[in-house]
Amino acid sequence: MTEDDIPRLVEIRPGFVSDTVLDVETSGSGIEAGWRLVERKLLVPFDKGHDYDFDATERANVRERLLRGDGLHLVAERGRRLMGILDMLPQEWNSTAFIWNLMLDQEVRGKGLGRDLFERGANWARRMGYRALVLETQTNNVPACRFYARMGCRLDGVRSTYYTNTDVERGEVAIFWTYPLE
Ligand SMILES: CC(C)(COP(=O)(O)OP(=O)(O)OC[C@H]1O[C@@H](n2cnc3c(N)ncnc32)[C@H](O)[C@@H]1OP(=O)(O)O)[C@@H](O)C(=O)NCCC(=O)NCCS
Repeated sequence: MTEDDIPRLVEIRPGFVSDTVLDVETSGSGIEAGWRLVERKLLVPFDKGHDYDFDATERANVRERLLRGDGLHLVAERGRRLMGILDMLPQEWNSTAFIWNLMLDQEVRGKGLGRDLFERGANWARRMGYRALVLETQTNNVPACRFYARMGCRLDGVRSTYYTNTDVERGEVAIFWTYPLE
């Protein structure tokens, strides 16, 4: 990725549709509280619509991360059109690399490109000596959860207050994943 690619991020259509959602079931209380994810079929599939699109704020965020110069930022192109990105930054304090974005256009999914970008990210982070990849998905993005589970990531935690109350009402709870590199 170069700075010239930033305005072109709007070419990617990163929305998705899911016909299931992960419900967060809680158990216990106090220091023995627990969380469990349970997949539930939706009567009406969840459509992310344009919420993942690279709007001006998100493009500015990607630019800022790119210009730091210490991460891994890759683009996938078909012809002259941008079709996907991997946007990762190191977190030196705990020796991990955080995947901010792994987003592909709807047209190029299911053909191994996601795996290819993920593996490039893992190889880069391993070469740099980081101990794990870390990333976050949402409980209503079951297709991405399945993808990361398939990549060998393991569930690392649920954070029900990460988003606003409105998001929680929509069934959008943050879940964190880890991919050990050691
Ligand atoms: C998630 C995403 C990056 C996956 O990329 P992809 O190119 O479609 O995935 P691949 O074709 O490389 O699939 C890799 C493996 O994951 C599996 N997989 C991918 N999506 C899956 C799904 N929805 N359900 C089950 N398995 C899935 C594939 O079967 C494949 O397995 P295999 O290599 O053992 O045959 C892509 O679908 C995407 O951009 N989605 C929308 C944006 C998004 O949600 N990004 C993640 C934000 S947190």
